[in-house]
Amino acid sequence: MADLSIQLAPNHPKGLLLANPVITASGTFGYGTEYSDLVDVQRLGAIVCKGTTLRPKDGNPQPRLVETPSGILNSIGLENVGVDLVIREKAPIWAKWKVPVIVNIAGETMDEYKKVAARLEGIAGISAIEVNISCPNVSSGGIEFCTNGKSAASVTEKVKSVSSLPVIVKLSPNVTDITVIALAVQEAGADAITLINTVRGMAIDINKCQPILGNSYGGLSGPAIRPIALYMVYKCAGVVGIPIIGCGGISSAQDALEFFMAGASAVQVGTANLTRPQAALQILDGIEEFARRKGISNLAGIIGKARG
Ligand SMILES: Cc1cc2nc3c(=O)[nH]c(=O)nc-3n(C[C@H](O)[C@H](O)[C@H](O)COP(=O)(O)O)c2cc1C
Repeated sequence: MADLSIQLAPNHPKGLLLANPVITASGTFGYGTEYSDLVDVQRLGAIVCKGTTLRPKDGNPQPRLVETPSGILNSIGLENVGVDLVIREKAPIWAKWKVPVIVNIAGETMDEYKKVAARLEGIAGISAIEVNISCPNVSSGGIEFCTNGKSAASVTEKVKSVSSLPVIVKLSPNVTDITVIALAVQEAGADAITLINTVRGMAIDINKCQPILGNSYGGLSGPAIRPIALYMVYKCAGVVGIPIIGCGGISSAQDALEFFMAGASAVQVGTANLTRPQAALQILDGIEEFARRKGISNLAGIIGKARG
């Protein structure tokens, strides 16, 4: 069988070695525990938990999900249990697991990101931090941290300054040139980047003459965004030296392989989990089968192969 293991933080003293490159995406797989009766979670490359903030959050008004062609719009608004409960109740379970768990963090101020990362320091069961920078920066009047290189770099530096864990920064596609942001967070010390978060969008109820989502707009995910995500991975792979984790509409092994060939070192599976809890493991099986069929002995034999 091909060696699908991958090191996602080669420049970090602790590293982030995954047995395989298939990860479940934040917000679509809970804390992993909810799925452990349905799926052999230990076979996954890693699990990224729901976005975690300093204090618990109730999230946005309902409705928060609406189906769209080949995708869904969500406006969950980061409803989550808060970092203290994650440390108290989730991490002790993760510490007994073989599969690495990555904690996705969010905040409304730079200080909040820093505090969440600092709380996670030294907690057993957590292998890395993924920083979701697509959050409104309250101190800058609601402008998101992801929208300019300077604030994206500042959040990265703040988290790095208090954490001894590998730090992955998850970028938003809602920018003019994603390579600028990718380079800025690499410069600020990011160990890897995840591309992409959801694409901003909305839907309107024509009978009620009003937006369907309680929050009016939300984030589009699922197969509808896959070509956008693939393009952004391809573009960024041409400029950054740190590993890229591809994410966006991946629901089959073929999709995942496209991302590897564009330059991703690993993939995250998100919306596909919502209808097929086995999606990530089926994707892993398909990658193994492809490698066998093509006589590929390790993942490096596929990564970036479509780049010429
Ligand atoms: C219901 C839902 C909740 C999400 N929550 C988070 C979150 O808390 N933090 C985060 O960084 N991304 C979150 N995401 C974004 C996903 O992790 C992923 O980046 C995005 O959905 C694109 O991948 P996909 O098309 O495979 O779903 C969420 C997505 C969905 C659909």
